[in-house]
Amino acid sequence: QKLEMELEAIEKGGYPHFMLKEIYEQPKSISDCFRGRLNASTGHLLLGGLREYANKMVNADRIVIIACGTSWHAGLVAEYIFEEFCRIPVEVEYASEFRYRNPVIKEGDVVIAISQSGETADTLAAIELAKSKGAVIFGVCNVVGSSIARATHEGAYTHAGPEIGVASTKAFTAQITVLSMMALMIAQRRGTISERRYHEMLVELETIPAKVEKALALNAQIEQISEIFKDATNFLYLGRGYNFPVALEGALKLKEISYIHAEGYPAAEMKHGPIALIDENMPVVFIATKDSSYEKVVSNIQEVRARKGRVIAIVTEGDTLIPSMAEFTIEVPATDEALMPLVSVVPLQLLSYHIAVMRGCNVDQPRNLAKSVTVE
Ligand code: G6P
Repeated sequence: QKLEMELEAIEKGGYPHFMLKEIYEQPKSISDCFRGRLNASTGHLLLGGLREYANKMVNADRIVIIACGTSWHAGLVAEYIFEEFCRIPVEVEYASEFRYRNPVIKEGDVVIAISQSGETADTLAAIELAKSKGAVIFGVCNVVGSSIARATHEGAYTHAGPEIGVASTKAFTAQITVLSMMALMIAQRRGTISERRYHEMLVELETIPAKVEKALALNAQIEQISEIFKDATNFLYLGRGYNFPVALEGALKLKEISYIHAEGYPAAEMKHGPIALIDENMPVVFIATKDSSYEKVVSNIQEVRARKGRVIAIVTEGDTLIPSMAEFTIEVPATDEALMPLVSVVPLQLLSYHIAVMRGCNVDQPRNLAKSVTVE
């Protein structure tokens, strides 16, 4: 027993929980995704796992992304990225819904399945169904040799290393990293991205680990904010564009490990329902970094303030407008809006972590949840 506990302490590498260790590993896990694949100075970008079927994706009429949980959120970010850079229509499906509704799969459709464990039963079944309809399937998995990795035609591993905490953190950012590289590679071959933008994106991708490092340096500030909100019974997370899936992921993290009810919403949809929930007790987390929907998000923040909601805003460093309106602001480094989820999700991971610890929850093994769901 004692030996087991000591071994676990060594595995946690000095961190009190696996989840915190894995949050802190992200600068490294993202760089590990780049290894041998990306070199901005030479313009090199190649995912070795995409070979004979790569052209299928280049010429695809449609991409269908299948996943569950956090991986599904990474799929939503990928939808925005693929549509923007590759100009291919993308649909993101919950594997469990896809597999039970006789989905339409045509020649020219390609499927991307995303799974950390590579063992999620619904995702695996959805792959088999799509395959039986003749689709080519690409996998984005973390676990090498997993069932999903073996069931797909080709794919790209995320190389994030083992993820032990049930709430997924480093796997999420690794998935987005791989999917961004995939989209840029396809966009370049399709000719839907200019050379200049392509190179800018490669350079920007390489800066992400350092920016995640800066986001991690906000830990002490986030811990203080967590102290203030740890007894809340509800949370709302709002974002637009690339930060909309981040809002969903932030809310999921909080639900999973702190058992506080949280909802993620596209900020503009707030007025169609969630706005009714806002009063002086409602914490509202805005992911409000400087991007093409910034002004719109600012007006959404004003709408929440007018109803006395308590605004916690994730903003871009140097922003002066939102700090004048929000009760708390957390500043993250600027990056291209398409890559911002890699940075803006980090404070939300830390927020849920600290709140859960303060509430005495079992962070690494939350009640009722499993790391991989191998039953339907
Ligand atoms: C479970 C885990 C989640 C994970 C989801 C999908 O619900 O608790 O953290 O996002 O399964 O898992 P996968 O391994 O397919 O990414």
